[in-house]
Amino acid sequence: MDERTELIEDLKEQIRFLKEIGVDSLSADLPAYEPEPDHELAHADFQTYVPTEEDLAVSKPASPAGRKESPRSPRRSDILSSVRLSDREIRDTANETLERSEEKPAEPVRIATHMEDASEGLFGDLSKGLPESDETLGDIRQDIGPDCTRCKLCETRTQVVNSVGNPNADLMFIGEAPGADEDVQGEPFVGRAGRLLTKIIEAIDLKREDVFIGNINRCRPPDNRRPMADEASVCKPFLLREIAVVRPKVIVVLGNTACQNLLETNTGITRLRGKFLDYFGIKVMPTFHPAYLLRDPRKKREVWEDLKLVREVLNDSAE
Ligand code: URA
Repeated sequence: MDERTELIEDLKEQIRFLKEIGVDSLSADLPAYEPEPDHELAHADFQTYVPTEEDLAVSKPASPAGRKESPRSPRRSDILSSVRLSDREIRDTANETLERSEEKPAEPVRIATHMEDASEGLFGDLSKGLPESDETLGDIRQDIGPDCTRCKLCETRTQVVNSVGNPNADLMFIGEAPGADEDVQGEPFVGRAGRLLTKIIEAIDLKREDVFIGNINRCRPPDNRRPMADEASVCKPFLLREIAVVRPKVIVVLGNTACQNLLETNTGITRLRGKFLDYFGIKVMPTFHPAYLLRDPRKKREVWEDLKLVREVLNDSAE
């Protein structure tokens, strides 16, 4: 193969790969994601969000021994290694992709009809729905304490990452557990996925400060692994108490792990998303995790559909 043909082949491979990761149209300057025209595109920011240059930084290709490299033509492996996803984002993507391939379409959707046993000591019997709460978010935070050692995540975390936001929010977002940025900054959803979550919130005409944002687990799991059942069950009751205080009209639960943990279901996010579920009198909309959207921007379309339903419910309830 002469050098020119090799360059063309490399470029073709590069384009194929960019398409695989969701970049549907390419320009000379920037890889751009453009939604298909048959979809309603209501909010420029969220709809046109594309991985930034930082997201898709193309590092200088390392030359494999004996192979002539063109500096203008990074190979697929170079591009792969240059898509700098955090461990959590890679894991979220893997989970959500795996979940899709493992789903059994015939299985009935089951969600929790009682709040888990672990919450009963803190909460009492919840079989009849969310109790009236006479505590404040401050009381709950104080109860958790800054040095919580209720599970082994305390051994590796930097700090407890408590929920944030408007205590009277109509809308609540629930994720899985803090990642590296959150562990350092002490606030949920402040990394790349968090910035995308902020765009999603703004896409439905709200501000981040208007909503309430929390995680099932408040401490970062080592290597961003998925929180274990014992870790989730010891931490989740605090979130449930917050739900009882805030009493949002809608909860958006982000990603497979958070969804399965909150709703105590084995049904995957791909089947659950897009429809409201009733969670003790609160409407819950499961949708994809923003970290998954960073990996596969085409999924933003589904999230946008889900969020439009959420906006509709919030607008109707405000009338
Ligand atoms: N992912 C989550 O699920 N929660 C965070 O706070 C950050 C990333």
